[in-house]
Amino acid sequence: MQEKKSIHGSWASRWVFILAATGSAVGLGNIWKFPYITGENGGGAFVLVYLLCIALVGIPIMIAEVFVGRRARQSPINALMDLAEESGKSKSWGAIGFMGMLAGVLIFSFYSVVAGWVLQYIFSSASGALNGVSSEQAGELFNNLLADPTTLLMWHTIFTIMVVIVVIGGVNAGLERATRIMMPALFVLLFVLFGYGMSTDGFAQGWSFMFDFDFDKLTWDAVLVAVGHSFFTLSLGMGSIMAYGSYMPKRASIGSTVLAIGFLDTLVALVAGLAIFPIIFANGMDPAAGPGLMFISLPVAFGQMAGGQFFGTLFFVLIGVAAWTSAISLLEPTVAYLVERVGLKRSSATIALGVVVWAIGILCLGSFNFMSDVTLFGKNVFDFLDYITANIMLPLGGILIALFAGWVVKKKHASDEINLKSEGLFNLWLFVVKFIAPAAVGVVFILNL
Ligand code: PHE
Repeated sequence: MQEKKSIHGSWASRWVFILAATGSAVGLGNIWKFPYITGENGGGAFVLVYLLCIALVGIPIMIAEVFVGRRARQSPINALMDLAEESGKSKSWGAIGFMGMLAGVLIFSFYSVVAGWVLQYIFSSASGALNGVSSEQAGELFNNLLADPTTLLMWHTIFTIMVVIVVIGGVNAGLERATRIMMPALFVLLFVLFGYGMSTDGFAQGWSFMFDFDFDKLTWDAVLVAVGHSFFTLSLGMGSIMAYGSYMPKRASIGSTVLAIGFLDTLVALVAGLAIFPIIFANGMDPAAGPGLMFISLPVAFGQMAGGQFFGTLFFVLIGVAAWTSAISLLEPTVAYLVERVGLKRSSATIALGVVVWAIGILCLGSFNFMSDVTLFGKNVFDFLDYITANIMLPLGGILIALFAGWVVKKKHASDEINLKSEGLFNLWLFVVKFIAPAAVGVVFILNL
């Protein structure tokens, strides 16, 4: 097949691809979700399972997504159909892409609500409202926010508009330039906060909470959450990375690029945990506090730090940016598909999709107030969407993509495109996507039933 280009554009270089894909991967999943689900699932053993999943399942599947996207140079549904056809198989494999689009829409709708909390905290922090708060006061502030649908709606709307604007522009030089500065700044500030965590007397306890592997606390449900989170945090199983891969330069090496993205994403999550848990323990808070964990612990920490008003504000700004660059990638596959398939203009496709995700988001924010008694399978709408997307749709999408890459695409096509340094490495990858990853995730699914 000769060199194709995507009609949507392409990244200027391999470095820009790393930046964009890391922008997608590093987000609320790392800084908000990882610490709180680690807290809820008992710590150490959960972290270990999560790390194993990243290495054994996540990285190989990310390689699969990038190569499928890059070879086909189209949105996920069309990419899957094209490569299936090229290998003489049924085009119905494109259906994986439909499930991915749905997952993207559902994830966006609660993601945007949490991003809205972050936006609110930028202002609370900048105005000094968080200065010197105790953990009780911080908890109360957070609960007051959740109880106030108007404020939540305002921020959810603003965040959705921010994302729509960027997606309309294509992932342009402006955003790339912004992430180039913001992502390193996020790293620096995380390390500052980590340093603060180390200086508290909760550090040893925070460390052992995360790294002492106490398997008694591990349930099959926790394993499923760890598996699901490894997909969520790497943006896998729904086509985001596949879409980004379709804009990737031909010559860039897929293996080392994917390793870099996986490494950075994991580093951010671990450092975020090591920053947050010491603060929790030093202040006698509950590590299993749930989704509010970050919004209660960080204000307390910054409230006590010299220059905390400034650093706290900056930190929430950076989390907001991380959420923004991730949310873009939730919409991109569907927008690209609508442009390719329905022939909509990029702007119309994005706005239409924006309205849909915004509307579903209202149901999510209502979960904390006017719709708190509406439950699906015993969970409110917010928790339900979080649960089915991360723990079911993404892992299922991931297994199917692995099977697709391993069994449907001809071996020669895969090895030409991935172009790993050694044949042994390629065969190892192939073995993992054909057998190990689907079996591992499949077993966890079955044991959870
Ligand atoms: N990876 C993002 C995060 O950790 C969330 C995400 C999931 C983005 C799936 C795109 C696709 O916050």
